[in-house]
Amino acid sequence: MSDELKRGLEGVLVAESELSHVDGEVGKLVYRGYDIEDLARGASYEEVLYLLWHGSLPTREELDAFAADLAAERTVDDDVLDTVRTLAEADERPMAALRTATSMLSAYDPDGNVDEGDDGPTETARRQGRRITAKVPTVLAAFERARQGEDPVAPDPDLSYAGNFLYMLTGTEPDAVSEETFDMALTLHADHGLNASTFTAMVIGSTLADVYSGVTGGIGALSGSLHGGANQDVMQVLHEIDDSEKDPVSWVKDAREDGRRIPGFGHRVYKVKDPRANILQEKLRDLSESSGDTKWLDYTTAIEEYLTDEGLLEKGIAPNVDFYSGSVYDSLGIPVDMYTPIFAMSRAGGWIAHMVEYQADNRLIRPRARYTGPESAELVPIDER
Ligand code: ACO
Repeated sequence: MSDELKRGLEGVLVAESELSHVDGEVGKLVYRGYDIEDLARGASYEEVLYLLWHGSLPTREELDAFAADLAAERTVDDDVLDTVRTLAEADERPMAALRTATSMLSAYDPDGNVDEGDDGPTETARRQGRRITAKVPTVLAAFERARQGEDPVAPDPDLSYAGNFLYMLTGTEPDAVSEETFDMALTLHADHGLNASTFTAMVIGSTLADVYSGVTGGIGALSGSLHGGANQDVMQVLHEIDDSEKDPVSWVKDAREDGRRIPGFGHRVYKVKDPRANILQEKLRDLSESSGDTKWLDYTTAIEEYLTDEGLLEKGIAPNVDFYSGSVYDSLGIPVDMYTPIFAMSRAGGWIAHMVEYQADNRLIRPRARYTGPESAELVPIDER
């Protein structure tokens, strides 16, 4: 047994997985061997879910059946929608509301609130995972509408996963460019090796707890500012720069002098620019040029150029996926505090895939800590302390 301590489990191998691989030295991400760029440009989010959950890309027939099954599960019980409304009225944060509602969904799962169905944990996990993935957009859209004092929009099974979410959010069917952009963003966020939230879901799954517990835990882990919360922080920084009336480079210079970290930069695995950031940057360029509003594109490009010239890239700190996703969501009219929940909506597909994969050859995850407390302590009765 090794006594070497790896803080933050950095570089520690804990499992084998066929799902995704991040090569942080060259900036490459694959899902089951397919390059993320090819998937983002050439496959829908439903195809990517099928790939992650079933092991190969679907044929047209397989995709139609899979997408129809998923779409058929979109409706959420009224009790959950009532809770979502209560949370919105209480001004709950969207990630916390999503965490609560996802946990509550299990009470209405036809497989029952049990850890294991008749056909074993893996098949139950697959079915429940499909239901969660289908219902999370309905929950999120209903929450956002409740905050605006609007009734939820019922899901439309004829729309794609991406298109239906935007439709439920706004009450209007999205145009093709918005739907395609959002679908691409979902694909880019679907899986990413053993990141903190995926590992959380896996740890929970390794106890043979159900998928609702794993996804609920994953949402909690993703909510922090060192992980999924960074996409909102980037947008807040862009607004802060705008309000300051400084140019983006002087703002970043001052922020660095104050010892602030720049959200959307740096990554535990990537030592070069995240390939997902490249794809989103390109998408932002297209959207900005077609709308004629290039403000966020100008800001983000200037910040990236400045920090690269300042030598951050040489230290292995480059833009991650969050640096450009916020501006893309902003151009789709999505409120800032929905960015991380949208990340969760997409990443739930990856969490479920990892739980199912791990449970198929399960071993309880149980590491150790080096004990640094006192050797022995004498218990003094409470009234004598
Ligand atoms: N801005 C400025 N400097 C940074 C940044 C940043 N965003 N990130 C890291 N650094 C510097 C650190 O100050 C440190 O410098 P030092 O060695 O001179 O002290 C060095 O880079 C290493 O930083 P660590 O925190 O040790 O790196 P770690 O691998 O633990 O952190 C992390 C990765 C948490 C993502 C970090 O880069 C960060 O805080 N980034 C900002 C938040 C962010 O964008 N998170 C999203 C990550 S992607 C995702 O989850 C989808």
